[in-house]
Amino acid sequence: MSELIVRKSGPLFGTVLIGGSKNAVLPILCACLLTQERCEIRQVPPFADVLALLGILRALGADVEYDEKKQMVHIQARRMKMGGGGEELAGRLRASFLVLGPILARKGRAQVPLPGGCPIGTRPVDLHLKGLTALGARIRVDHGMAKGRCRILRGTEVYLDLPSVGATENLLMAATLAQGVTVIENAAAEPEIVDLAAFLKKMGAKIQGAGTPKITITGVDSLHGARHSVMSDRVETGTFLAAVAITGGDVVLKNTPNDHLAAILAKLREAGAVIEEGVGSLHIKATGEILPFDVKTMPYPGFPTDLQAVFMALAAVAKGTSVITETLFENRFLQAAQLNRMGAGIKTDGRVAVVEGVRHLTGTAVTATDLRAGAALVVAALAAEGETQISHISHIDRGYDHLEEKLQGLGAEIFRQEEPAREAMAAAH
Ligand code: EPZ
Repeated sequence: MSELIVRKSGPLFGTVLIGGSKNAVLPILCACLLTQERCEIRQVPPFADVLALLGILRALGADVEYDEKKQMVHIQARRMKMGGGGEELAGRLRASFLVLGPILARKGRAQVPLPGGCPIGTRPVDLHLKGLTALGARIRVDHGMAKGRCRILRGTEVYLDLPSVGATENLLMAATLAQGVTVIENAAAEPEIVDLAAFLKKMGAKIQGAGTPKITITGVDSLHGARHSVMSDRVETGTFLAAVAITGGDVVLKNTPNDHLAAILAKLREAGAVIEEGVGSLHIKATGEILPFDVKTMPYPGFPTDLQAVFMALAAVAKGTSVITETLFENRFLQAAQLNRMGAGIKTDGRVAVVEGVRHLTGTAVTATDLRAGAALVVAALAAEGETQISHISHIDRGYDHLEEKLQGLGAEIFRQEEPAREAMAAAH
């Protein structure tokens, strides 16, 4: 087991290149199952979740080639099984469930393991199943598997009780090959859904309203192969902006999705950072001093829940008190206990965290409990006195590509090392 060693760093200087979006690339890779033809997907970083999902697509019978250097994937699902295989892989990520809609649409039968992913809540899939059932599928869940059958999927109106990103994506993909028109009401409007819809339209799908709460899909008989370059990652962008904000510095971020960052930039400016927006780039200047701010996570275009933990790290060293409300997940404050080990003054009560800023954090041994909590610990450790050892960094590797190398490139003192045997032994028992 390896760990990240981080020492007080900064100010950070230089340029960093933002990569493709984890939460856009995963559903887009699943969408390749909707056609027998070859698809080419670019700007695909080697996240652990990407490698796991490619393994699942191979287990389903798709031909998959991944050129990690070029960050390009070719997928052709000429033949396709209705499921089976890849159970262990499916347990590692939430997006594994996004093959359900495509397999049902292509094969009329599917057997997909219930998903894994970050332990940030119960994360049921009831909205996925309710929507697919409305389209005509008969689905039952037993022994940890969702087993579905449908003679044909028929378009209908589906209302989502919650604007679920994953449920919207599963339904959107299934509806492209359904008979007739499907309307998804109260759909999620995240940019990653717009990117998925853009790829599906290149495949020949008829979709209107992606990015709004009402998406209309007119089913077609088949879809053809297509090429697509995945949008840039707004969560990686926010993570690097926060790293500069907390250490101070002067950094240019390249290849940023500026059209989708309003909430993130507003909060960072409130916290005292100076950010100039270029064409597909951002230039941040920061002193390292953080002004207090309040955050309430909301569906897009509200403040993204995926940056809540990272911004809690900023609030931990702010010159005052910040209040953070997490409205999407019921257990997404796991980072608070770890930040408190570093000297933070965070009190949580249900979905509200009150963060009393402290003069500085101090380095110690901490654990990454989930993907974005792990990123929060890295950001906090860059400003903490002394050295921080972050264990269980496989969580971080699920959604960040070469995080420590990119931070080293900006002058941060961070490196990966094999966890000493004693810790590994302790962790094993
Ligand atoms: C996607 O998860 C993202 N993951 C998450 O990013 C992100 O936090 C989330 O959307 C919200 O933006 C991927 O895209 C792979 P939801 P998803 O369905 O689809 C409840 C990261 O760090 N719900 O919008 O699982 C659910 O429990 C990850 O990159 C139901 O009740 O999110 C949650 O409380 C973490 N029933 C809320 O809705 C359902 O059937 C939002 O979930 C589905 C969801």
